[in-house]
Amino acid sequence: MPRTDDDTWDITESVGATALTVAAARAAETDSENPLIRDPFARVFLDEAGQGIWSLYAKPALPDDVDTDVRTMVRAMIDFMAVRTVFFDEFFLAAADAGIQQMVILASGLDARAWRLPWPDGITLYEVDQPKVLEFKAVTLQRHGARPRVNLVNVPVDLRQDWPRALRDAGFDPARPTGWSAEGLLRYLTASAQDSLFERIHELSAVGSRLAANAVGAEALNPQWLARQRDQMRHLRSVATGLVDTDVIDLEELWYPEERTDLSAWLNEHGWEVSAATLGEWLARYGRSDVASDRMPNVFVSARRTRS
Ligand SMILES: C[S@@+](CC[C@H](N)C(=O)[O-])C[C@H]1O[C@@H](n2cnc3c(N)ncnc32)[C@H](O)[C@@H]1O
Repeated sequence: MPRTDDDTWDITESVGATALTVAAARAAETDSENPLIRDPFARVFLDEAGQGIWSLYAKPALPDDVDTDVRTMVRAMIDFMAVRTVFFDEFFLAAADAGIQQMVILASGLDARAWRLPWPDGITLYEVDQPKVLEFKAVTLQRHGARPRVNLVNVPVDLRQDWPRALRDAGFDPARPTGWSAEGLLRYLTASAQDSLFERIHELSAVGSRLAANAVGAEALNPQWLARQRDQMRHLRSVATGLVDTDVIDLEELWYPEERTDLSAWLNEHGWEVSAATLGEWLARYGRSDVASDRMPNVFVSARRTRS
């Protein structure tokens, strides 16, 4: 189904399924021989959700008849999610270490940081996502007996609507420095919704606040890259359809391949000190194959607000 400006979803539907795909890659990484991250909750979510396109990523040991190209795409996704997870984990722990006690995870999906990171005492963490996504997560983790290691506050709201009001109503205090993340979100917003997101984050950020986000690299707008990506995903989807006993979502039709404001430059102009690194640099840092940076070009941005 094509996207609309006010579409909504459950965890196995539309953009909700992308959260399961990320969880599947984290589960596969966690179960691998030499994992970069350990997310014991990722598999719990998959067991609860049942099968879908995400099942392809959940087990690196694919059936023998799956071809090399699909294996390469699956491996690239797992490597991408592994280093991306490390990037955001390190960001939050450094922010907490610097004394920030108010964190906001935008588009939290099935991110289990509130349950798995070694947070210091006194952290309040707001998770913002669509209502049914947060509900699936809360019910699944409660059933599993998991307890958050922070004061966790759910903010069920669409990030294209008046989420700042929902966040304030939930107790968020804009006078205090905040640690913000937008992980795996921006490509699912239009370019103008992305601009509005960062304008609002900026308005809510006291000096000393920090922000981490990943943005799709400019290469992903190249028509040749887009055509190749569509072909590869079509092929992956047909393989997935043969492996799982259910409908398989077309993940390629969920994102907006639009030209966007340069996030680092925009933050810089607005009083944030920015550092940015490509996915390729992060893969190299952890000795992972560079294939993922060609298949999923990305930039990891982190910033600290230094001026009002
Ligand atoms: C690829 S997943 C990433 C989830 C999580 N950040 C992670 O990395 O595990 C994208 C998430 O963005 C959420 N999302 C996308 N657009 C949204 C919107 N307009 N409002 C609220 N949540 C949204 C989806 O529900 C989904 O949980």
